[in-house]
Amino acid sequence: MRAIVLLCLLHAAFGQDNKFSWLGPLENVPQQAPVQSQVCVTDQASCGCCLMQKQIGRLEKFFNMSINKLKDELMSSKMILNNMRGSRSAFSVALNNNSAMVSYGPFSSDSIIKYKHVFINLGDGYNVETGIFTVPRSGVYSLSVTVYSSARVTLSNCVTLQVNGENVAEAIERSGQDLEDSTSVVVAVQLNAGDQLSVRLLQGCSLSDDINHYNTFTGFLLYASD
Ligand SMILES: *[C@@H]1O[C@H](CO)[C@@H](O)[C@H](O)[C@H]1NC(C)=O
Ligand SMILES: *[C@@H]1O[C@H](CO)[C@@H](O)[C@H](O)[C@H]1NC(C)=O
Repeated sequence: MRAIVLLCLLHAAFGQDNKFSWLGPLENVPQQAPVQSQVCVTDQASCGCCLMQKQIGRLEKFFNMSINKLKDELMSSKMILNNMRGSRSAFSVALNNNSAMVSYGPFSSDSIIKYKHVFINLGDGYNVETGIFTVPRSGVYSLSVTVYSSARVTLSNCVTLQVNGENVAEAIERSGQDLEDSTSVVVAVQLNAGDQLSVRLLQGCSLSDDINHYNTFTGFLLYASD
């Protein structure tokens, strides 16, 4: 009896068809051969063996299914990750990189500020020629604008952060008692792919900047929404 069970186990582990491999997915679902079923009727010991084989077969199927399910989940996670990597978006720019302080404005009408010094432009959403950031992917974005002007040039800084020409927030400081004015806005907003973001210098206002980068415009994708 012991010998039969041992043989049985050996058969199960190293079956002639080599159906059972612990090294990787199995090619065939083990089927009970008709010969074995007949043996089962006549030989009680072999019958136990058949049951054991069936059990092992079931386990195998179960493992196989689990592994396949994990593989699928891994694949879709990888796709999501690649998608997220592909849609990374962050820009941060300053007015100029001049060693001496220069004035920007005033102009006779509201005009988009063209920030020329680029700290980062991940995803190429910011256009240095137009001063416009085009949203690459819908989602929640963090945006911030800081402006500065010095009485050495003119003292009145006033800008408005716009999405598709509509005001989101303004940063204004006009003619204080001091010689310098600076102000900031920071917002988180839901934007759609293709939206155009810009900072407009209001009519009659001006900014001052140099290599210290007092005037910055920054935005980055916090969460994608699709
Ligand atoms: C295990 O999965 C593979 C596909 O990945 C399939 O071809 C094979 O028949 C399966 N084996 C069992 C025992 O379910
Ligand atoms: C900004 O100016 C500094 C000093 O002249 C220089 O080292 C640096 O490369 C400049 N940056 C860019 C982006 O031109």
